[in-house]
Amino acid sequence: MILVTGGTGFIGSHACVELINAGFDVVVVDNLVNSHEKSLDRVQQITGKRPLFFNVDVCDEKALDDVFSQCSIDSVIHFAGLKAVGESVQKPLEYFSNNLDASMVLCKVMRKHNVKNLVFSSSATVYSGDNTMPLTEQSKTGNCTNPYGWTKYMGEQIFKALCVADSDLSIVLLRYFNPVGAHESGLIGEDPQGIPNNLMPYVSQVAIGRRDHLTVFGDDYDTPDGTGVRDYIHVVDLAQAHVLAVRYAQNHKGCEVFNIGTGKGSSVLDIVHAYEKACGKKIPYVIGPRRAGDLATVYADTKKANEILGFKAKYDLERMCADSWRWQSMNPKGFE
Ligand code: NAD
Ligand code: UD1
Repeated sequence: MILVTGGTGFIGSHACVELINAGFDVVVVDNLVNSHEKSLDRVQQITGKRPLFFNVDVCDEKALDDVFSQCSIDSVIHFAGLKAVGESVQKPLEYFSNNLDASMVLCKVMRKHNVKNLVFSSSATVYSGDNTMPLTEQSKTGNCTNPYGWTKYMGEQIFKALCVADSDLSIVLLRYFNPVGAHESGLIGEDPQGIPNNLMPYVSQVAIGRRDHLTVFGDDYDTPDGTGVRDYIHVVDLAQAHVLAVRYAQNHKGCEVFNIGTGKGSSVLDIVHAYEKACGKKIPYVIGPRRAGDLATVYADTKKANEILGFKAKYDLERMCADSWRWQSMNPKGFE
């Protein structure tokens, strides 16, 4: 059985679908701080199976221990964490405490129950801003610009140290680039609370009429059209990478890190135009100042994940926007 922490969230719910489709039994632990349990009803609608669910805070050692006692867990995918960059600057203590305690408590409970395999949600945000593109797993890390980024960086250090101390452990660190899109059914997707921080959910709320225009954060970068370039990856591709990663963890020992992206950069205006095509409407936008901490261009070298995990992203930008729009238009208010 696979334990999925944060499994009611955006990426976690998509991972549940792919894990169930691949034949795994899934148990979800989530405290619903940024998600709805309804996402698991939708997982059931898609797959025919509802993951077992525990409304538990991963930082609560006793409650997590009970889950491990009740279920025969052999591997864990650890998505649970707070993820809003701006909020992490306002509430650093909450971010360090939640994200690092969750990882450490989880590892203590895994040790007690002799569970050796873990996949962790890391982020391209751990890379230092002064690298050349594309980013390989060897590129420089650190110099994070916000507490959220540091929690991912420090999380990676903790997992690496644990693998040094216990040679039976197997930990896979996945550094996600920019996950977007939704399951093709339109039944699960990203449901941000309040004003979206990230580009694609913002654009989709403009498309549905919840916001009147997008502000493009700078058009004077050294990129083909002057707007920021990122490596957007379809969340279903990303979810499938977790199936490969968990199988890899079950068959290897030690700590390995993989970039999970497409290797292809798209600009803000590329996204706007692809979304306009997907929804059949104009996306009004204005050009604003640059956002602090943003880089001109970020994209992945995907060779390692391709060669070792056998992972290659299948879906293009057109498909990411089409699936995002299907989710948004079928669920204008998200899961509410
Ligand atoms: P999300 O907020 O939708 O999912 C995270 C889930 O964790 C939520 O359901 C939330 O309720 C839960 N959670 C948070 N703290 C918890 C705790 N202490 N105990 C139990 N549950 C808790 O976010 P997501 O986009 O699905 O991200 C999943 C993971 O991937 C996160 O760790 C995030 O930092 C990482 N990540 C996300 C992105 C992205 O752009 N979405 C990029 C890189 C990395
Ligand atoms: C952001 C985070 C990063 C995190 C990632 C998760 C910052 C500085 N970085 O990355 O730590 O891991 O999300 O996916 O917050 N844009 C606009 N208008 C908007 C929103 C975004 O023009 O309203 C632009 C940005 O300037 C950027 C691109 O769109 O060029 C993508 O932005 P976003 O979706 O926030 O992702 P990242 O900046 O890559």
